[in-house]
Amino acid sequence: MADTFVLFGATGDLARRMLFPSLYFLHAEGHLEEKTRIIACARSAREKQAFREEVAAMVCERADGAQSDVVEAFTKRIHYLAIDVTTPEGYGELAAAIRADGGGKEVVFYLSTSPSIFGEVCRGLKAQGLSEAPHRCVVEKPIGYDLESNIRINETVAQSFSEERTFRIDHYLGKETVQNLIALRFGNRIFEPLWNSETIESVQISIAETLGAEGRGGYYDEYGAMRDMMQNHLVQLLCLVAMEPPSSLSAEAIRNEKVKVLRSLAPITEENVEAKTIRGQYTEGFDPDGGKAASYKADVENEETDTETYVGVAAEIQNWRWAGVPFYLETGKRMAERKTQVVIAFKPVPHSIFGGDASNNELHIILQPEERITLQIMNKKPGISADGMPLEELPLNLSLVERNNGARRRIAYEQLILDALTNNPSLFVQRDEQEASWKWIDAIAKAWSDRGVSAKPYRAGTNGPSAKHVLTERNGHSWYE
Ligand code: BG6
Repeated sequence: MADTFVLFGATGDLARRMLFPSLYFLHAEGHLEEKTRIIACARSAREKQAFREEVAAMVCERADGAQSDVVEAFTKRIHYLAIDVTTPEGYGELAAAIRADGGGKEVVFYLSTSPSIFGEVCRGLKAQGLSEAPHRCVVEKPIGYDLESNIRINETVAQSFSEERTFRIDHYLGKETVQNLIALRFGNRIFEPLWNSETIESVQISIAETLGAEGRGGYYDEYGAMRDMMQNHLVQLLCLVAMEPPSSLSAEAIRNEKVKVLRSLAPITEENVEAKTIRGQYTEGFDPDGGKAASYKADVENEETDTETYVGVAAEIQNWRWAGVPFYLETGKRMAERKTQVVIAFKPVPHSIFGGDASNNELHIILQPEERITLQIMNKKPGISADGMPLEELPLNLSLVERNNGARRRIAYEQLILDALTNNPSLFVQRDEQEASWKWIDAIAKAWSDRGVSAKPYRAGTNGPSAKHVLTERNGHSWYE
């Protein structure tokens, strides 16, 4: 395990909400070694002890019932260092802090900063001999705005850290439920023979959020739902659902299978973009508690903006397993409820002996807000009947919330930080995966721009623009809401 974890961007929002609380839980549950130190770097000057107290407050905000002695022992691991990463001077001091007391044998650098300064940080570390093996770096999204900028950023990092030592985070891959998709598919014999176009009619993957874009307007207004969510989280879920069985759980084996899926995605171009995609933007409406919700334009204070806060895509994977099976992907902000789900809809039985009663089987894998797997199956309606054998659809339910016995929901970053500390890259995104995904996204963005496809309005608190139904109805399907 690494002896030092260096966090750049230590006073930022992600550090406060996710990274320090995750590090705390790793500490509190005994996953960190005695020697593991955290060097927290940010630009502003702060007293070491005052910063530890700030972190203690961040942790208590997130960890109900955290014991003060455990929090205190955790914060003792933290050393705050004020550094202006854009100038070469500070790195000498950082190197000295890392190497103090015999530390710095194995360091993880976590870059929770804007990608525009990744280059300077990596160069600064290299100049101090801090980018050699076994040191590694973790980089946060957005890694680029398009393929070109993605390549540029990755090149910059690659000049200091080799690919095996560059850990690109997609926090969805740290979610228990997302990893469970791998377990469900490849730890059970029963699904795999059915997991193909012979038996499956369609697949839907949705990430619906109730939050809006308030508070992060600058970034979001530039990126929109396609680049903020589809390019990474949704595409990763798609890969896990559609990939071939990897030969092992190694990063390489999983990456190879994911890349094959991405390269098999049918390109969406100017000719079919209007039939295959929908852009939407929320207008004034309601939040889930019935309170008023402002429009996106008001949230980002830009009356002219056409950025999409909803995107729906009917994707196609051109390979033997999936030929002809539509993959409906959608994500939106300010939707009716927070829900991340994958729905596998099976084909009808080849010949029904029950008249009109038989529905198709469906496998619902609910990832958020509560983890649940449900298989909709047909049963005989109880009782006697003078008219054949009436059927009803019943769910076979696997509630993972009950199974977890009330255990707290983990923060996705806990697993990912632990993996970075122990040098396990399986759940991180490799460069060629990202490039393949950006290539597909870029083509859609270009087609939107060439065809002048604008974002259709939908009221905050609803399920997205009504025009989204055309995507599914065209194939005789509907969205599961
Ligand atoms: C982030 C996006 O990557 O994921 C946010 O930038 C989004 O816009 C968030 O809200 C969703 O993550 P989660 O874990 O809350 O589903």
